[in-house]
Amino acid sequence: MNSLLTDRLGRPLRDLRISVTDRCNFRCRYCMPPEIFDKNFQFLPKTDVLSLEEIAYLTKLFVKTAGIKKLRITGGEPLMRQNLPYLFSLLNEIDGIEDIAMTTNGALLPKYAKELKENGLNRVTISIDSLNDEKFRYINGRNIGVQKVLDGIEAAKDAGLQVKLNMVVKRGMNEEDILPMAKFFKDKDVILRYIEYMDVGNSNGWKLDHVISKKEIFSIINKELPLEPVDANYTGEVANRFRYKDGENEIGIISSVTDAFCSTCSRARLSADGKLITCLFASGGHDLRDYLRNGATEEEMIQRIIDIWSNRHDRYSEERLKNTDKRQIKKIEMSHIGG
Ligand code: GTP
Ligand code: 5AD
Ligand code: SF4
Ligand code: SF4
Repeated sequence: MNSLLTDRLGRPLRDLRISVTDRCNFRCRYCMPPEIFDKNFQFLPKTDVLSLEEIAYLTKLFVKTAGIKKLRITGGEPLMRQNLPYLFSLLNEIDGIEDIAMTTNGALLPKYAKELKENGLNRVTISIDSLNDEKFRYINGRNIGVQKVLDGIEAAKDAGLQVKLNMVVKRGMNEEDILPMAKFFKDKDVILRYIEYMDVGNSNGWKLDHVISKKEIFSIINKELPLEPVDANYTGEVANRFRYKDGENEIGIISSVTDAFCSTCSRARLSADGKLITCLFASGGHDLRDYLRNGATEEEMIQRIIDIWSNRHDRYSEERLKNTDKRQIKKIEMSHIGG
């Protein structure tokens, strides 16, 4: 098929992000606050979660329906999912897929990086919010030292994976780490991206005051390490790119709150329980799993994907700019969709 499938705002479906589990070995306070995601928290039962074969089959359908070339595996923490390297081997066999990336907290990369690369993973994005060990242990809610993540970054590089880093910037949490992070990673062959703290889900107690804007982040770094803008790598890239003027490396800033990018949003998200989610801030998703398990034919599945995407009109971040009350609606938790 491979025709261009567009939504009601004319946006094509280009990029599929697949959450393989809603569980995580961290409890980052802005994502899975430990008081809420405690030992009584009900994660998805195993039978609700798509099998690796079901994920690969659905992915194949997305490729057939929309010509998707780019995949990102997310969680929770994707490396908590058993047998994950096998999934990469299945995805790698799909004709048309050109790029497979994964978002991870990095702690398990020393164990898995090499095997994942061998099975078809090209790139990882590793979350790291501070280099200050004490602060890092607090933020991740599990007292995990920052060295563990630094080891994960090294393991990924050693395995030949391209590495990007995500730092969520939240006022009162880590604004003093913006510059030290830039300095530390400038010559390390990784691209550091700063993310404005977002109101994903309803658990993290988000307030607009907590947000440090792209403008502020830029200015903090630019004062000491002069920067210049660089063109996007591709249409719809979420990070604004900036290069150090001395020619060494670049950074990215992701400004979903102060400078939304919904007009070029071409990302579909598949949750671990098989829902197609058309926006990071959606209240729910569209079931694909039960359709599949109830015996829908390939044609029927493809039609369902076409129907969902062609009816899509989400633009939450742009609407929130005008009306911050929007954030009070019920939203899916970040750990359910993985960013
Ligand atoms: P590449 O450019 O392919 O390397 O990846 P990416 O930057 O698109 O993906 P990544 O998952 O690393 O995105 C970084 C962060 O940007 C995510 O963790 C989210 O916090 C945020 N983000 C990504 N996509 C969206 C989106 O569609 N909407 C909003 N509001 N935020 C997004
Ligand atoms: N705002 C911005 N980024 C977030 N992430 C998780 N929660 C939030 C939030 N509320 C980031 C994680 C990870 C990626 C999946 O999204 O740190 O890098
Ligand atoms: Fe932290 Fe990512 Fe786990 Fe959320 S999913 S708690 S951001 S490591
Ligand atoms: Fe896309 Fe929704 Fe993010 Fe806008 S808020 S960029 S529509 S995921």
